[in-house]
Amino acid sequence: MKEIIRAPRGTQDILPGETSKWQWIERAALESAAAFGFEEIRIPTFEYTGLYSRSVGETTDVVQKEMFTFTDRGNRSLSLRPEGTAGVLRAAIENSLLAGALPLKICYILSCFRNERPQAGRFKEFHQFGVEMLGSKSPLADAEVISLADRFFKKLGIHGLSLQINSIGCRACRPRYHQALREYFSRYEDSLCETCKERLLKNPLRILDCKNPDCAALTAQAPCILDYLCDDCESHFQKVQKALQDLQIEFRVDSGIVRGLDYYTKTVFEFISNDLGAQSTLCGGGRYDGLVEEMGGPALEGLGFAMGLERLLMVMEKQKTAFPDATECMLYLGSRGEEAARRAACICGELREEGFCVSFDVLERSVKAQMKYANKIGAVYAAIIGEEELSSGKIQLKRMADGQSKTVDLQCLKEEMYQAKLDQFAEKIVQEDFCDEDMDQ
Ligand code: HAM
Repeated sequence: MKEIIRAPRGTQDILPGETSKWQWIERAALESAAAFGFEEIRIPTFEYTGLYSRSVGETTDVVQKEMFTFTDRGNRSLSLRPEGTAGVLRAAIENSLLAGALPLKICYILSCFRNERPQAGRFKEFHQFGVEMLGSKSPLADAEVISLADRFFKKLGIHGLSLQINSIGCRACRPRYHQALREYFSRYEDSLCETCKERLLKNPLRILDCKNPDCAALTAQAPCILDYLCDDCESHFQKVQKALQDLQIEFRVDSGIVRGLDYYTKTVFEFISNDLGAQSTLCGGGRYDGLVEEMGGPALEGLGFAMGLERLLMVMEKQKTAFPDATECMLYLGSRGEEAARRAACICGELREEGFCVSFDVLERSVKAQMKYANKIGAVYAAIIGEEELSSGKIQLKRMADGQSKTVDLQCLKEEMYQAKLDQFAEKIVQEDFCDEDMDQ
């Protein structure tokens, strides 16, 4: 036997059986976004590397250490997208979307790539659901975007998340804060990691986000951004908090949140879960006024968030969220003989036209093997047609759950399936009522 080539470390297959959960989450994500007026965008998986260094930032871990970068035949540097915001903004500018109605509200579900050391909740390839709102400077927009994430979590039945918010100032107040950080960290320069020594000169705010334990220990006593906000940032931050209170969204101000990407200004936020272990940030986002202009677009403000779908699923599984059933096979129509097999294929075609999920034998198996297969795939009903059934026009329909059989007219199979669906539905409602009664007691 030849050696199996395995998937690269830090990637994972989403297998049949799991995909229905993803489809459900993705549908709920797009529905939640649509309720707030966000439309989906799809963008390329890779972009010119300069897009990320210019937006995410030269001094960030993402750009310095984590991007999958390669050159094309024309020797241009390309990178797999490490996040969605940069590509979405590029697409909005390039396609003149910002010349239309504002604010522009876009959402996306995409795969991202970061060359990080894999661990629970951290992958080299992962998926994000995100939204971006472009063209509003109002604090109400910050609350609106946060409230979208909050509503989505509620829709999925996720509980126990904590929302932490902060303001990291703007171009006007940041220099003063940078200066204070430089003064503070230069006293401990020898203890900083090599990357942070460089950051001390270029972008001291990034030191606050360093995962090195020595740098993290120094960060605890560093000057606090909230003491350096200009009047505009201070007032904006107060209004965001007021708007969140109005919407009855609980939050905590945490001045330690600086986010790992350079484009943020003013409000930043994270939804944290205790069900995630070390990688506890489920969703992160914030405002990035100035970024659209920096990327060659008009002077418009922007903000958004993204959440990791793998982490979302981890939380949901930990919290034993009930997922809807995957599409089940209503009828496995087996056959005996070539002619009957062809007839089974036609009957299945007709039932599919009606919207039923049905299957027939394509392996020319024995009747016994076909029934075994019907059982394995969890078919709700199974029947076999052969010469006899073809001439009599009647088949034995077997309910797989309890083995009960009844004779039905081949002509009436469609009606039988409709009735079976109704029975299933009624059974489910009775079960749910029972569950509710149990809960009430
Ligand atoms: P981010 O915090 O870098 O922000 O990523 C957002 C979310 O993606 C994280 O909270 C986490 O759930 C997930 N994530 C990040 N890295 C990994 C990984 N290696 N493995 C699994 N999940 C991961 C952004 O990407 C910004 N673009 C968010 C944003 C949109 N800000 C404004 N608009």
